[in-house]
Amino acid sequence: MKAIVVTDQAAGTAGMTLTERPEPPAAINDVIVQIHASGFVPTEMEWPSTWTDRAGRDRTPSIPGHELAGVVTALGYGTTGLSLGQRVFGLADWYRDGTLAEYVAIEARNLAPLPGDVDFAVGASLPISGLTAWQGLFRHGRLQAGRTVLAHGAAGAVGTMVTQLAREAGAHVIGTGRAAGREKALDFGAHEFVDLENDALKDVGSVDLVFDVIGGDVQKRSAALVKAGGTLVSVVGPAEARPTDGLAVDFVVEADRVDLGEIVQRVRDGRLRTNIGDVASFDDAIGALDPTTRRSGKTVIRVRP
Ligand SMILES: NC(=O)c1ccc[n+]([C@@H]2O[C@H](COP(=O)([O-])OP(=O)(O)OC[C@H]3O[C@@H](n4cnc5c(N)ncnc54)[C@H](OP(=O)(O)O)[C@@H]3O)[C@@H](O)[C@H]2O)c1
Repeated sequence: MKAIVVTDQAAGTAGMTLTERPEPPAAINDVIVQIHASGFVPTEMEWPSTWTDRAGRDRTPSIPGHELAGVVTALGYGTTGLSLGQRVFGLADWYRDGTLAEYVAIEARNLAPLPGDVDFAVGASLPISGLTAWQGLFRHGRLQAGRTVLAHGAAGAVGTMVTQLAREAGAHVIGTGRAAGREKALDFGAHEFVDLENDALKDVGSVDLVFDVIGGDVQKRSAALVKAGGTLVSVVGPAEARPTDGLAVDFVVEADRVDLGEIVQRVRDGRLRTNIGDVASFDDAIGALDPTTRRSGKTVIRVRP
């Protein structure tokens, strides 16, 4: 099969090669998915799991990409819940070969059905950003109607999902980012926008939930804004700052079929819009994934035209 592989962490996406790799076998509880579209997170080249297995052993050449939409072509022994020919989307294991390939082996529990009226490119754009927002807001942040959410990076892939889901849940959403992201953040539903480079974050006042996708100094300044009983949710590593009288939670997104179903249903009925920047063919993928030239939003690769 055709696949994009990486061998050299220092080279970043410039070290990617489109090459031939063996098709993966279907292990117990696995399905093989013929990939139609694949999603990629710009920070993947920095993740240890891109380079090693769970025991820390080098697994290069490895295939990056963790989001996919495609069609089930084989079932491993013991696999239940999905069938041959079914359209699916989901989140591939961090430590296994990923989705910038014509086929991927993936545990069935990491996938959900992709309804026939949802395009493969849309399906591949949803798993990481959608699940991260859903789990951060509702599972870890315990968001309820009437609360105020400070959504950092609100024009980004995760931030646009956070903004829409929080607003739908009845929260007041204050988006943040750079000045260039203002229009997009407001368009995706933020009630207000704070330009982190020019506005004073402290003028926001107190909030119930901070959803942090930036970290560092922005996270430290945000922790001070959390009301008593509120939560700072971080997806950029262990929380460096804690609210004085609230919780700090950091987490890594998990595949979850029920959560994926909630997200795709909202896309179907118009409550949730995906934030796709570029869609590129497999042959043009390496250039499209270059973080120095990519457009804002998810970059999706149409592996199968
Ligand atoms: N733990 C998890 O499970 C998990 C899951 C998903 C994502 N993540 C992490 O979350 C982060 C965001 O992911 P994403 O896919 O949403 O990325 P993204 O699409 O690039 O969005 C990030 C947004 O934040 C803005 N931003 C970044 N640094 C900023 C700063 N210093 N000041 C103002 N605005 C800033 C960016 O603006 P510009 O485009 O102008 O820089 C962009 O709008 C990444 O580090 C990713 O690895 C973690």
